[in-house]
Amino acid sequence: MTITFLLNGESVEVDGVGPTTTLLDWLRETRGLTGTKEGCNEGDCGACTVMVTDGERARALNACILFLPQLHGKAVRTVEGVSGPDGQLHPVQEAMVDNHGSQCGFCTPGFVVSMATAHLNRQTDHDDQLAGNLCRCTGYAPIVRAAESASAAPVPDWMHADQGFFLAQIPRGEAEGRGAEPPYAQPDSTDALAAWYADNPDATLVAGATDVGLWVTKQLRDLPKIAFLNRCEDLKQIEETAAGLRIGAMVTMDRVLDAMRPRHPAYAEMIRRYGSAQVRAAATIGGNIANGSPIGDNPPALIALGATLHLRHGDTRREMPIGDFFIDYGKQDRAPGEFVEAVTIPAQPDRLRVYKLSKRFDQDISAVCGALRITVEDGTVTDARIAFGGMAGIPKRAAAAEKALLGQSWSEDSARRAAAALDEDFTPLSDMRASANYRMETARSMILRAWHEDQGLPISVLEVAP
Ligand SMILES: Cc1cc2nc3c(=O)[nH]c(=O)nc-3n(C[C@H](O)[C@H](O)[C@H](O)COP(=O)(O)OP(=O)(O)OC[C@H]3O[C@@H](n4cnc5c(N)ncnc54)[C@H](O)[C@@H]3O)c2cc1C
Ligand code: FES
Ligand code: FES
Repeated sequence: MTITFLLNGESVEVDGVGPTTTLLDWLRETRGLTGTKEGCNEGDCGACTVMVTDGERARALNACILFLPQLHGKAVRTVEGVSGPDGQLHPVQEAMVDNHGSQCGFCTPGFVVSMATAHLNRQTDHDDQLAGNLCRCTGYAPIVRAAESASAAPVPDWMHADQGFFLAQIPRGEAEGRGAEPPYAQPDSTDALAAWYADNPDATLVAGATDVGLWVTKQLRDLPKIAFLNRCEDLKQIEETAAGLRIGAMVTMDRVLDAMRPRHPAYAEMIRRYGSAQVRAAATIGGNIANGSPIGDNPPALIALGATLHLRHGDTRREMPIGDFFIDYGKQDRAPGEFVEAVTIPAQPDRLRVYKLSKRFDQDISAVCGALRITVEDGTVTDARIAFGGMAGIPKRAAAAEKALLGQSWSEDSARRAAAALDEDFTPLSDMRASANYRMETARSMILRAWHEDQGLPISVLEVAP
């Protein structure tokens, strides 16, 4: 199919490219737009950051793990399009010069695009917005100073040009690729996806491609048959239903963060450290659940919240408590041709605690992620749901620890007994992220940390005073 999008203000039509061609390769090799750099080629460094605008808003994304068909109908702005048509510098570029924000310059285009996107969206949480951009020589203080000093400047006119393009000018593409490229589908509704996937159960589904992208760029895998989910607008809905908050599989993590902030702030705070702004803007909640990783960050919180997973195969739907989806390492309760449609979080008072432990504070995969929802009535624990990622081959409830708490007073003693009971629940592994012993000790600490937090004691590592 012809992939049509706006590139630095000009409409482009791309035909006959493989569906797993990344935007980064295409920009550099076909268009000669070499301002977008290749650093890690796996979403970690932000050197390849571009701005992508869709019907909703402008986002900074990593071009190295973005496949061209995902751009159909959107507007892309590279660093070459951040300065004005007559070469005027964007305020963030001027500020980078004034604040000495660049030395070797390799990371600079990525920083500039992240900063220009945040500037357009009037986001001033600069540390969070820039956590996905790495610089090896300048040091971050001058760069953050540049972002701060540019934030009050008006948004240049040319940066508004991409909005409104999405719906007005893009023709609806055909549902299936054809021609020289390998076949791929890009259904425009969940019904169309369900029908196609039931007929093509051997296909790979691509949601945000923050996992699948690496299969291509790092593992050099061929994906012979693919369906892109990005045009299924009905999978991107967040709805209040009688059963609770229903979050469509294609809702990106930046939107899950916004939805959780007023409901379960601890969950939102964990998501703030989920990848980077670029990763959260692409990664979906459905992809995170479906890939079944033992260190995916959503499942522990969703298990502790008693969420329900909705699956669909053709016209048949089924649902299950989300914990039941994870059967064994690499094995989920999902039939060929069946996909994740949504997840529902029941409405409930907020008692959730979530603790993410990773080697680096920002932009790192968890070594251990613990989620606890402990209900205390008249001093006695009447309900306990505790789940961990990173402690077993799957995200898993801590049944023995929960049992040790039920019917007990919520006290330091009972928290310590529950922590000790984790020995019955888990036999963690040692790997490059953490040793088995470290995992067990830190998981135990998370139960005590929840008790401390409930007593109003400071628990944030950011608040520890010497
Ligand atoms: C730099 C970086 C940082 C990261 N940091 C974190 C982190 O902090 N925490 C974390 O948990 N993860 C992290 N990840 C991993 C990844 O971002 C998440 O797992 C993400 O949520 C996956 O979603 P996606 O939409 O990108 O999935 P994709 O890559 O598109 O797909 C992932 C898998 O799910 C399948 N799939 C996708 N959607 C569906 C569906 N609706 N139904 C059935 N199958 C489906 C795909 O076929 C594939 O097998 C990181 C990744 C990168 C590159
Ligand atoms: S090249 Fe490092 S994030 Fe894309
Ligand atoms: S200026 Fe050299 S890596 Fe940032």
